[in-house]
Formats: sequence, C-alpha cells, structure tokens
Amino acid sequence: ALQLTLAVIKPDAVAHPLIMKALHQRILESNFIIVRRKDLKWRRQDSERFYAEHSGRFFYQRLVEFMSSGPMRAYILAREDAIAHWRELMGPTKVYRARYTSPDTIRAQYGLTDTRNTTHGSDSVESAHREIAFFFPEFQIEDWMKKE
Ligand code: CMP
Repeated sequence: ALQLTLAVIKPDAVAHPLIMKALHQRILESNFIIVRRKDLKWRRQDSERFYAEHSGRFFYQRLVEFMSSGPMRAYILAREDAIAHWRELMGPTKVYRARYTSPDTIRAQYGLTDTRNTTHGSDSVESAHREIAFFFPEFQIEDWMKKE
C-alpha cells in the first residue's frame, strides 16, 4: 500500500539553487510520487509551534531561528514505506555522524551543521499525518488514501 510522508527542504539548501535541483532530482529518482509541493516561509511562531516537542532542548532556539530564516520547500511524497525510505535517503540527523556512517545520504553530502541539516522527514505515520496537516492544511489525507 502507498504511504505518505512529509519531506522538507530547509532554508540552508533552498538558498542554493543547485542543491535544490539535486535534491528534487534525488526525489524523482527514488521512486516517490510527488503528491503536492509547496514553497513557503515560516514566521517565528510557525517554527515554534512545529517544533514544540523540542522546546527546552539546548538547540531549540537556534532551530526555531534557522527554520524561520528563509524560504523552504515542502513535499508530500508517496510510495510503499515512504517514511522509512525518505529517512534512509536523508541519513542521520547529525551531519558529522552522517558523513562518517552513511556518506551517500543527503545530510552527509549537503548538511552544514546538526541544525542546518538540509532536510526534514516525518518519523512515524502519526507525525506524517500531523506534519502534512501543518504544511498542507487544505490537503485531505483520508480522501487521497481512498482514491489510491
Ligand atoms: P529535524 O529532522 O527537522 O528534527 C529536529 C531538528 O532539530 C533536526 O532535524 C535538526 O535540525 C535539529 N537538531 C536535532 N538535534 C540537534 C542537535 N544536537 N544540535 C542542533 N540541532 C539539532
């Protein structure tokens, strides 16, 4: 069965058109269906709300600041096991770990720091639904699933 995930290209990558193009190409080559795509920019409060679960962590302020610092691109992606496949493509959250353990991944290749790590991906079915609704409030997940 098809599964949906939310993939986000973060401001560090959107700032570089060639990296954006490479990441888009990577998505197309990886057998995802691009269900929706949206370019947007967060206000600080969007960033705070999306990452509320991390409030109190030492990196929260810099994360909130970074994610509202410039434009992003969000995708709803579909395929079998979309969540796991996108996470595998991204690699570990921490860029230096990614470079060491999985040099072929997006974060290993393009990530700058543990905060400016190029991409985001949902980590479970529940968070995928929550995050898709956050970025694409007009998208009806249940309707889409029924049609597929
Ligand atoms: P993301 O997948 O968007 O989920 C939470 C984000 O917090 C993560 O990617 C990073 O951008 C950031 N983050 C997670 N861990 C750290 C860390 N140790 N130091 C700085 N930023 C972090």
